[in-house]
Amino acid sequence: MGDRYVVTKANDSLPPLRWEEPPEGPVLVLLDQTRLPGEETELVCTDVPALVEAIRTLAVRGAPLLGIAGAYGVALAAVRGFDVDDAAETLAYARPTAVNLGYGVRRAAAAYHAALAGGGGAERAAAAALAEARGLHAEDAEASAAMAQHGLELLAELLPGGGYQVLTHCNTGALVSGGEGTAMAVVAAAHRAGELRRLWVDETRPLLQGARLTAYEAARAGMPYTLLTDSAAGSLFAAGEVDAVLIGADRIAADGSVANKVGSYPLAVLARYHNVPFIVVAPTTTVDLGTPDGASIEVEQRSGHEVTEAAGNPVAPLGTQAYNPAFDVTPASLITAIVTENGAISPVTASDLVALCGPSAPGHDQVMG
Ligand code: MRU
Repeated sequence: MGDRYVVTKANDSLPPLRWEEPPEGPVLVLLDQTRLPGEETELVCTDVPALVEAIRTLAVRGAPLLGIAGAYGVALAAVRGFDVDDAAETLAYARPTAVNLGYGVRRAAAAYHAALAGGGGAERAAAAALAEARGLHAEDAEASAAMAQHGLELLAELLPGGGYQVLTHCNTGALVSGGEGTAMAVVAAAHRAGELRRLWVDETRPLLQGARLTAYEAARAGMPYTLLTDSAAGSLFAAGEVDAVLIGADRIAADGSVANKVGSYPLAVLARYHNVPFIVVAPTTTVDLGTPDGASIEVEQRSGHEVTEAAGNPVAPLGTQAYNPAFDVTPASLITAIVTENGAISPVTASDLVALCGPSAPGHDQVMG
């Protein structure tokens, strides 16, 4: 992987990713999310293989951020004189489920090729790829702010009493975004509005993105939060302590099915049984109208060691086989609403999803024929 250095930030802003141009040449600097919350360590990527390794090991992760990282990765290859098409190919397939990764990579690569075709030469083409990555980064921050607003309005409509007890799964905050995230941006807005009574944080086995990352973000923001094991969620619903579930998404198929961190689907079933709103918050860059339905979404299968070991120590007999899908798929019928930067749809239908996303959404041309 790339070079590492440890940072202790004096201020509150801890960007998950940034582009820097030291005299030795441009680099992509990542906050290494595998080391949080214990260490705030930055990882310096000088080439695409280092970035691909960071993506596979989840040093950089979460759907929107993967798209931004992929776009900067193409720019990195271009400015450093590596083969841009090779880089784009390797980056796009580093992880299969989050549609944003391929989207970000394709946008930067298209900008690079358009500039080349325009006769600008390699340097101008590299600058065009970098400008596209920066554009996507800024757009994601804007989308995050808009989702927070739409999500807050939806919560006020669904839960007029205010004082929400929200359950969330995995990590969807500033660590995955150019802004404040997706579901977590709505939670942060509710907190600022004085309407967040409690954030219930699923620990999110096996890689503990909830415990390590969401609890870290909630603590930094001064939110009232409580951590629970994933399997404790059922008794929490039964006790009437959950008013709404808010999660993000890695890919939303054309039929409104949502792939998100494994453990999301059981929460949707619980929410339906207990008559609790189950809300998905994601930018339109996570909607893939080219994937017709949930069954067509490729779910990443990860190493069994993530299940049979905890922090490198065995928790199962040697040789135990493990089932370790990184994501699961929730059908539209179990989802109360999908919130994007363009607004919310409820109930979730294929036609409303197309109308919500508009022509710029990935795969829009495929559904429209
Ligand atoms: O495997 P990860 O940590 O990349 O999974 C991330 C999630 O599942 C998030 O919930 C999803 O990307 C939505 S984040 C906005």
